[in-house]
Amino acid sequence: MTFDFKRQVVLITGAAAGLGYACAQAFAAAGAKLVITDISQEALDKAVNDLEKGGTEVLGLLNDASDSADVSAMMTAIVARFGRLDIAVNNAGTATPLQEFHEVGEAEFDRVITVNVKGVWLCMQAEIRQMLKQGGGRIVNMASATSRNTYPNAAPYVTSKFAVAGLTRTVAVDYADRDIRINAICPGNVATPLVVSLVEDLSVLSTRHAIKRLGTPEEVANGVMFLASDLSSFSTGSLLEVDGGWNAI
Ligand SMILES: NC(=O)c1ccc[n+]([C@@H]2O[C@H](COP(=O)([O-])OP(=O)(O)OC[C@H]3O[C@@H](n4cnc5c(N)ncnc54)[C@H](O)[C@@H]3O)[C@@H](O)[C@H]2O)c1
Repeated sequence: MTFDFKRQVVLITGAAAGLGYACAQAFAAAGAKLVITDISQEALDKAVNDLEKGGTEVLGLLNDASDSADVSAMMTAIVARFGRLDIAVNNAGTATPLQEFHEVGEAEFDRVITVNVKGVWLCMQAEIRQMLKQGGGRIVNMASATSRNTYPNAAPYVTSKFAVAGLTRTVAVDYADRDIRINAICPGNVATPLVVSLVEDLSVLSTRHAIKRLGTPEEVANGVMFLASDLSSFSTGSLLEVDGGWNAI
């Protein structure tokens, strides 16, 4: 299946690496104009260069998705450059090292909740304000297989991803009558820099998926594009599992 996002302005947060970058590549291949953000200048510069080489118009912004001033500046820059925002993928996220619940420090809890929950909250607010002015838009939040299920010794992350699912559902209902569709994708494990930094033995992760392998970044990006496209025109407030059967076990 090929998607067509020609002339659409697509924002992806945390898109210099991992799943965000895979989404950027996929939307670029489908003709979109891109805004990609990240907190790593070096990785961002490389991602912008690589995408531009393929002929895509890209605005790269060094931007912290969990900082309200940054998010406000991000939206100002998007409107100044493109005049509108059609699709937003709230992907920026982080995790703590796996640790028993009673050992988790307050600072670690705060860090994960700030990026994964407050970040999605702030970005959705800014995006929806702009989409209301335009008369509509599409938002895809990066949730997780752990938005519906547990993972050992990952309480801060699991808590944050349950919250992303809740935010997605409740805000989607609030704006459903104004042509703003909001959905979340719930990926299983993919060997991104985040996962590789946290898990020593990726083969153990594979066994948690019914399909007995990890996902690829492209498989997740396909789900994101489906939710951002008119093919999912009757979906809002939904959580799409792209998890190799993780939650079916
Ligand atoms: N990889 C997986 O298996 C998996 C599974 C389910 C969900 N997810 C979710 O997908 C998203 C991306 O994960 P990933 O595995 O690609 O991670 P990653 O660490 O490989 O890439 C994330 C990117 O986001 C950037 N980033 C981090 N904090 C940011 C912030 N505050 N503002 C802007 N950019 C920021 C990082 O610099 C990095 O470039 C996260 O929300 C994660 O929870 C990942």
